[in-house]
Amino acid sequence: MSADPPRDSIAVAITGASGALYATRTVAALLERGCHIELIVTEYGRRLLRDELGESAAVEKLAGYLAGRYGDGVRRGTFTLHSNRDLGARIASGSQDCRAMVVVPCSMKTLAGIAHGLSRTLTERAADVMLKERRTLIIVPRETPMSLPQLRNMVLCAEAGAMVMPAMPAFYQMPRTLDDLADFMAGKILSAIGISHELYPRWGS
Ligand SMILES: Cc1cc2nc3c(=O)[nH]c(=O)nc-3n(C[C@H](O)[C@H](O)[C@H](O)COP(=O)(O)O)c2cc1C
Repeated sequence: MSADPPRDSIAVAITGASGALYATRTVAALLERGCHIELIVTEYGRRLLRDELGESAAVEKLAGYLAGRYGDGVRRGTFTLHSNRDLGARIASGSQDCRAMVVVPCSMKTLAGIAHGLSRTLTERAADVMLKERRTLIIVPRETPMSLPQLRNMVLCAEAGAMVMPAMPAFYQMPRTLDDLADFMAGKILSAIGISHELYPRWGS
């Protein structure tokens, strides 16, 4: 009898920027592909999940929400929810085995914390670990317009090795629904991690 292969571990942080749908689509797409997710939802991330997607998307009900919205395929994966205050969580250490981390959506506050290596919260610390260990860190900032400090913070993150992927879905795919827009961003994130998907048609296909 052979043991199950280890799951692909990815860290995901959901922060208090608008665009909770990008986060749920990304989490669902990773789960559908059998990943294990080390999940952090900041205090304002929790609020935005409820404000933008309704009470059924509250963190405590997230597994059921994802299955209801995206189908039972999400049950192929697993997730562990961490407190953003728990700096003793596994993902706060360089010996953790997540090969990538996504901050989606990323608030300007968390962006600033990552850019300056503050490590005040688990989100900031886990992101710092990805940078120091030279692993994939994808930051999906959302704000408009942006101040000069915010723009500079994106540059700092990019210089430190993060991929800055602003929440800017394209319209050449002729999206008709919010889900189409979220599929596009989630697809971009999965591609950047190196996970194949069919979340949107390839250009020219
Ligand atoms: C309804 C709502 C929408 C918000 N949208 C954004 C946003 O799009 N971008 C942003 O940077 N902050 C936004 N904020 C502000 C952040 O939530 C706030 O700065 C918070 O402290 C971020 O903390 P966190 O990064 O720990 O989640 C929003 C707040 C609320 C209540």
